[in-house]
Amino acid sequence: MTTQTDPAPRRRSGLFRTKTVEQSIQDTEEPEHGLRRSLSALDLTVFGVGVIIGTGIFVLTGKVAKETAGPATALAFVVAGVVCALAALCYAEFASTVPVAGSAYTFAYASLGELPAWIIGWDLVLEFALGTAVVAVGWSGYVRSLLDNVGWHLPQALSGTDEVHGFGFDLLAFLLVLALTGVLVLGMKLSARLTALVVVIKVTVVLVVIVAGAFFVKAANYRPFIPEAQRQTGGSGLDAPLLQVLFGYEPTNFGVMGIFTAASIVFFAFIGFDVVATAAEETRVPQRDMPRGILGSLLICTTLYVAVSIVVTGMQHYSRLSVDAPLADAFKATGHPWYAGFISFGAAVGLITVCMILLLGQTRVFFAMSRDGLLPRFFSRTHPVYQTPYRATVLLGVLIAVIAGMTSIAELATLVNIGTLFAFVVVALGVVILRRTRPDLPRAFRTPLVPWLPAASVAASLWLMLNLPAETWVRFAIWMALGVVVYFLYGRSRSRMAGGPGPERAPAGTGGPDRG
Ligand code: ALA
Repeated sequence: MTTQTDPAPRRRSGLFRTKTVEQSIQDTEEPEHGLRRSLSALDLTVFGVGVIIGTGIFVLTGKVAKETAGPATALAFVVAGVVCALAALCYAEFASTVPVAGSAYTFAYASLGELPAWIIGWDLVLEFALGTAVVAVGWSGYVRSLLDNVGWHLPQALSGTDEVHGFGFDLLAFLLVLALTGVLVLGMKLSARLTALVVVIKVTVVLVVIVAGAFFVKAANYRPFIPEAQRQTGGSGLDAPLLQVLFGYEPTNFGVMGIFTAASIVFFAFIGFDVVATAAEETRVPQRDMPRGILGSLLICTTLYVAVSIVVTGMQHYSRLSVDAPLADAFKATGHPWYAGFISFGAAVGLITVCMILLLGQTRVFFAMSRDGLLPRFFSRTHPVYQTPYRATVLLGVLIAVIAGMTSIAELATLVNIGTLFAFVVVALGVVILRRTRPDLPRAFRTPLVPWLPAASVAASLWLMLNLPAETWVRFAIWMALGVVVYFLYGRSRSRMAGGPGPERAPAGTGGPDRG
């Protein structure tokens, strides 16, 4: 199969050369570089809920309520949910127009050009790879707490890093990522089934928190609903939101601004709906199923988050909430340890799917970048039997397992958020640009109110980014600068769009020659 029939001309040189949508779709039809189409809208929704509900609601809710927003954490979830809904409406148009692996990366390649696409692919590592590591570490914490309940204690040196004990290798997080890598190599169908089972358990636990917890709510805990702004004490100054640093405000917690700071953190709880778009190439009828899957999973999760945060801050005064396991501990505090054990178990099970789908997202973006020649083509060969990008999966799985073994959650989560919000900005811009450059393309789902809705999405995502700590911005800038260097040293000349050095030859015994 060849890729010579593009109906639209494309620019072959320069940093902003674009890959046509037709070519992106044709690439997926190459037998050795294509993925199997097996997912339905329901699979996608389950997939979405499977990755969305995780560390954000199970862990970050307590920290944010206690330190940043009090009972108004529910409003922070609404703010973050609105930002995500705007982005989702843009993602849905793109995913239904460019239904191929790679999410925002593919979208950017079709609309903005190669360098922006590379930047996005590089940026998405923050979301997917670091996100996988963060969730694996969160999972490990819940499992250790369950093991402690039955009297099994891992040695400190294998229990991960924390402020009290210093460095420790997180053996459980490491093993989880390796196990999930194996599942992904074996194929989508297996992982989709596993996901469905775990999603049922996770949603049940969340519903139990809401329904059972509602009986223990005390109205007094909601006063004040929006605690008064308090001056931040300690810290380097760089841990204040960039907005406050830039405009010389005295850094504060709580108050109305605290709701936005909280929203920029609990945003982590929504990460994942965009991952649904990365599975477009494996969806049976992407034009119809993609928007349903993305918007459906987002709506379900937003509703659950608001309900959970209202119940939990009503069960226990926000100042007394636990930071490690707030949902379970709120039940302990009201004298119901049985519920607490059940919630911990559900969280431990539930975080597995989050971790798995983030890992899947990372391997698919990497796969798409490799297929385009921006990363070595070696990694884009799919498995002859399982039709999964097994080489990319194994490489990334091992790397992320090591990162998960060696890092702690706190600062990584904000880096994941900034990377994801940046991708939202690019996707929203891409919708507007692709409408102008390719008005002829069939769009099964059209973002309403273009260009106003994408403009609102850009503004909303930037607003949350500005509410993230200044030090997160510094790390983000360093990572992105590194990406630009890598592009100029490798991808720019090897890109298929540059007519680079041609495809990699298939190693003996792995199938026929590469036809890219
Ligand atoms: N949204 C996912 C979580 O909360 C990443 O863990």
